[in-house]
Amino acid sequence: MKLIDGRETSKVIRREIADEVKKLLAEGGKRPHLAAVLVGHDGGSESYVKGKMRACEEVGFKSSLIRYEDDVTEEELLDKVRELNADPDIDGFIVQLPLPKHISEDKVIETIDPRKDVDGFHPQNVGRMTIGLPAFVSATPQGIMELLKRYEIETEGKHCVVVGRSNIVGRPMSILMSQKGYPGNATVTVCHSRTPNIKEICLQADILIAAIGSPEFIKQDMVKDGAVVLDVGTTRVKSDKTKSGWKLKGDVDFDNVSPHCSYISPVPGGVGPMTITSLLINTLKAAKKEIYQ
Ligand code: GUN
Repeated sequence: MKLIDGRETSKVIRREIADEVKKLLAEGGKRPHLAAVLVGHDGGSESYVKGKMRACEEVGFKSSLIRYEDDVTEEELLDKVRELNADPDIDGFIVQLPLPKHISEDKVIETIDPRKDVDGFHPQNVGRMTIGLPAFVSATPQGIMELLKRYEIETEGKHCVVVGRSNIVGRPMSILMSQKGYPGNATVTVCHSRTPNIKEICLQADILIAAIGSPEFIKQDMVKDGAVVLDVGTTRVKSDKTKSGWKLKGDVDFDNVSPHCSYISPVPGGVGPMTITSLLINTLKAAKKEIYQ
């Protein structure tokens, strides 16, 4: 069994991005600039955004954090989105989700200029990705594709089972794995909460991608010997062994499943660390106008 190390892979990619930034600047180009809009004080969102800003600094990007209290109106937020769309110094920006209930996330996402939508959430980017056109792809699926590439995992002709059908992970993952090219060219099955025979389907997987948000849902008797397992789960569970009082649990029963896999990504330290790195990849692409000319 080989571990898919997202921390190490992230470090390598971030060094590559930092080198690219130096090259851009040496050629007289502009420093890539990512902005993040954060509404309220949700602990999870605060720490994600802090991680994103820190990552920008690490690779030499400029970053800007724009904060609002929970009572910001939808119109104020949409005005800020329009302002960021028009600001020539901003290459890409994100609006951290979730937003308070009185604000339509769909409306906010659809107001973002697709050329600056480095989260890959805008329907135009989702649509372009779906038909195989250059597009910003959301962080987790892109991070998994990058891990498959860097570990040179064969995907052509393999049966890939995706457990979960969310708009930001399961669904895009299933589309990317069935696309022409590498990684891709796989036969894909999507399972979800209404699939009656999940165990039998998972057992057929050469590549199993678990993205259901249910800790240790994937048990040993659901995984074929030699399978490649990617665990997207990051549920916080209480723990008396950590200072914070909680730890992250994946969707896979790692201790019992891992001895039977050819490759497996752990939680933490697998897919998770790749997500912010994917955002950096997209911001660099936006700055270099690689997706939209
Ligand atoms: N909330 C949880 N994950 C994400 C993400 O990738 N992007 C944004 N904007 N909000 C999130």
